Amino acid sequence: MSSPPHTPRTPRTPDVLVVGGGIVGLVTAWRAAQRGLATALVDPEPGGGAARVAAGMLAAVTELHYGEETLLALNLASARRYPAFAAELAELTGRDLGYRRCGTLAVALDADDRAHLRDLHALQQRSGLESEWLSGRECRRLEPMLAPGVRGGLRVDGDHQIDPRRLARALVAACAHAGVVFHRVWAERLTVGRGDRATGVVTADGTALEAGQVVLAGGSLSGRLTGVPEAVLPPVRPVKGQVLRLTMPRAHGPLLNRTVRAVVRGNHVYLVPRENGELVVGATSEELGWDTTVTAGGVYALLRDAHELVPGITELPLTETRAGLRPGSPDNAPLLGPTGLDGLLLATGHYRNGVLLTPVTGDVMAHALTTGELPEEGRPFTPRRFGGAPALPPLPRLPEHSA
Ligand code: GLY
Repeated sequence: MSSPPHTPRTPRTPDVLVVGGGIVGLVTAWRAAQRGLATALVDPEPGGGAARVAAGMLAAVTELHYGEETLLALNLASARRYPAFAAELAELTGRDLGYRRCGTLAVALDADDRAHLRDLHALQQRSGLESEWLSGRECRRLEPMLAPGVRGGLRVDGDHQIDPRRLARALVAACAHAGVVFHRVWAERLTVGRGDRATGVVTADGTALEAGQVVLAGGSLSGRLTGVPEAVLPPVRPVKGQVLRLTMPRAHGPLLNRTVRAVVRGNHVYLVPRENGELVVGATSEELGWDTTVTAGGVYALLRDAHELVPGITELPLTETRAGLRPGSPDNAPLLGPTGLDGLLLATGHYRNGVLLTPVTGDVMAHALTTGELPEEGRPFTPRRFGGAPALPPLPRLPEHSA
């Protein structure tokens, strides 16, 4: 039956409100809407966040670390989903995501680096992962622009890349296509109703947005939404990364055929060559609170280390320098699913793996939102593994907004 002509329509309260429009919030909203949940998302600039800075390596194998076997399982699950995920998103939106199945070469420049890489290789083998040890000469045969001093390396054909900016834009389009309602404003405060249940947020312009369930997906800002009870406040902290973008000439063939990375004097450096000629060089890792200044020292260190790997990069135009904030968590793994507060779920703390974990995060969160439970693969990442730890640096005070 249609409404009488002068009755104002009350917009339907959404089933889900996602706070944060980075790639993690977007994929959560998209997958929730695809499952038939009325979904809204609040963020002043959907598609922004750390994805604007990230290089987009899908590096489950080359970024393996001791003690992170549980995270490895989730990383691998997400890497396996990438081909179908990228194809679905590209077909739905008609956009090129810059998804490139090019593989990665991790190289060593001196004896210490080589020992480190040998350890990584052994750990990869114990974990059943595919990687091949190459001599320096074999590395240079694959990548002729590598420095003559490269002493050896690991060829990992399964670690790929995607362009996170294109991914974010495609996810915004996919959300719009699925009927996600965007509120382009900061969320300021979580509202908690009777019976201790999250009921929505109040935005910076004073609007109350209600929803059946609220997903906090604010990246490094996730711990700053006021109104979230301390016991369920996500223990995420900002870990700064400075990243450079250079432009490769196309005239003489590609400078690099695949992602090249190394640990140089203890610092990670990677060079990610895109098909469109962009070369992304990253990244510093700095615990400096909310600071996103691009520093001379950061740029110098990245160029110095990248130049040691691929001397020819100093000829290239430097087209962009940026810093972003990774959402670090106490165990470097994400926080996914229901919290101790009814109606409040988390999708945050992805730290170095936000781009890689995007497909699996969407699936895990959609499952949690529709069933109230985490699927098997998501269970180790329950936010309940932490008691709620407000581990945020105190300075400086952010503007009014929180997430
Ligand atoms: N995963 C690369 C980085 O966080 O720098």
